[in-house]
Amino acid sequence: MAEINNNGNGLAVHVRNVSKTFGTGEARIQALKNVDFDARMGEMLMVVGPSGCGKTTLLSVIAGTLQFDGGDIEVFKTRLHELKQRDITEFRKRTVGFIFQQFNLIPTLSLMENVSVPLLINGVRRSAAEKKARELLEQLGLGGREKDLPTLLSGGQQQRVAIARALVHDPKLVICDEPTSALDKDTGAQIMELLREVARHRDRCVIVVTHDNRVFKYADRMTEMEDGRVARVHETYSEYKQDGGI
Ligand SMILES: Nc1ncnc2c1ncn2[C@@H]1O[C@H](COP(=O)(O)OP(=O)(O)OP(=O)(O)O)[C@@H](O)[C@H]1O
Ligand SMILES: [Mg+2]
Repeated sequence: MAEINNNGNGLAVHVRNVSKTFGTGEARIQALKNVDFDARMGEMLMVVGPSGCGKTTLLSVIAGTLQFDGGDIEVFKTRLHELKQRDITEFRKRTVGFIFQQFNLIPTLSLMENVSVPLLINGVRRSAAEKKARELLEQLGLGGREKDLPTLLSGGQQQRVAIARALVHDPKLVICDEPTSALDKDTGAQIMELLREVARHRDRCVIVVTHDNRVFKYADRMTEMEDGRVARVHETYSEYKQDGGI
C-alpha cells in the first residue's frame, strides 16, 4: 500500500541492546537483558518463551507504553527514546494496535464504544467510527451485541472485543499479548487467520506473544525468549520444530 513507509527494507521494528529493570536493591529484576529483536512488514512474528521471561515487557517497550533503561528501539525509523511523551502518545495512537494480556476493556463503555475509541481519538467522526466498529464486531462473531457492556461477556468474547479495538484504526503495527488465551480451538484459529490476513494482505507487521502451541503453525517466524534474552530466532515454524520446539 502506498501510504506505508517500510523504509525499503521491510523492517518495522528494530530493537538493539535494550535493557529494562524493575525495582531496586533486593527486589531488582532485570526483565530485559541486552535484547536484539527485529520484526518485518508483512509478517506474523511469534514470540514464545516461559512465563516471566520478559515477553510482555518487550511488547510494552516496543509499543511505547513502558520506558526502557538502555539501548535503542526504532519503530518505522522513529527512535522511541528521542520522542517526548506527548509524541510517543501520538505515535502510538496512530501506528500501534495493542491487544493486552488482560484485555483492558473499559467496563463502563459499550462494546461499540470500546471498539470505536482508537478511531475517535484519531479524529474520525462518530458515525464513521461506529460503522467500522460494527463491521469488525460482526466479523468477530459479536454482531448484535454492540450495546452490551463488557462485563456481560465471557472471557473469549471480551478477548474478541479487544482484538476488534486493536485492528479498528488499521494500525501499521499490531501487537498481541496472548490473543487466543481465552478462546476455544476454532475461534483461536479464526483469529489467527484474521491476524495473518492483516499481516500479509494489508502489509502490516503483527507481533504475537503466545503460549498456545495450537496456533504456532500460523507463524511466519518465531523468536524464542529465555530469562530476559532473545535465545533463538527461527525463520519458519518447521525450523522451530526441527530445533526441538513443540
Ligand atoms: N511492573 C512490574 N514491576 C516489577 N516487576 C515486573 C513488572 N512487570 C514485569 N515484572 C517482572 O519482569 C519479569 C518479566 O515479566 P513479563 O511480564 O515481561 O513476563 P512474560 O514473559 O510476559 O510472562 P507471562 O508469560 O507470564 O505473561 C518477571 O520477572 C516479572 O515479575
Ligand atoms: Mg506476559
